[in-house]
Amino acid sequence: MSKIGIFFGTDTGNTRRIAKDIHTLLGADIAAKPVNIRTAKVEDLLHYECLILGTPTYGEGELPGLATGSTTESWAEFLPKLTAHQFAGKTVALYGLGNQKSYAKDFVSGMFYLYDSFKNCGANMIGSTSTEGYVFKHSKAVVEGEFVGLVLDQENQKELTETRLATWLKTLKLPLESSL
Ligand SMILES: Cc1cc2nc3c(=O)[nH]c(=O)nc-3n(C[C@H](O)[C@H](O)[C@H](O)COP(=O)(O)O)c2cc1C
Repeated sequence: MSKIGIFFGTDTGNTRRIAKDIHTLLGADIAAKPVNIRTAKVEDLLHYECLILGTPTYGEGELPGLATGSTTESWAEFLPKLTAHQFAGKTVALYGLGNQKSYAKDFVSGMFYLYDSFKNCGANMIGSTSTEGYVFKHSKAVVEGEFVGLVLDQENQKELTETRLATWLKTLKLPLESSL
């Protein structure tokens, strides 16, 4: 059985820590070790049938990368490397980190760009979540009334992260396992 690939972008480490938690919760038998997207090639992602991809939001609703002041390249530099239909038949779930108080007008908007890019490359996007329990004005990551992935706010709602993560992974288990 092939494993689930976990890739993340990060600047200050929060998204990496969540990737490690996801790996631990899923178990090393079904999930591969998380990889920072700055070191990954497109082929590394294509190696997996199922992917969990994580990103924080930087700038004003942007992906992490050199333009938003990250110390290294990240998702902003990676996404332009994707080509049409490349991810057809693959299953992709997203998680995003943001700060709903300081960035209420663009809360976790960066996650939208992952959604848009992988969807346009043919991936079957799973793992959308309710916006209930978050207070914000606007987010590009809300599509048809739901977040396009799991949303975590380590600055304002850290105490909810463990439950949110466990609940989300439970809902993903079936669709992920049936795609492996
Ligand atoms: C300069 C800066 C800009 C940010 N811009 C946004 C934003 O537009 N929207 C948002 O939801 N969070 C924003 N954040 C919050 C980060 O996404 C949040 O702190 C996240 O946990 C950082 O993840 P990382 O440690 O993996 O880099 C910003 C943080 C900083 C420092």
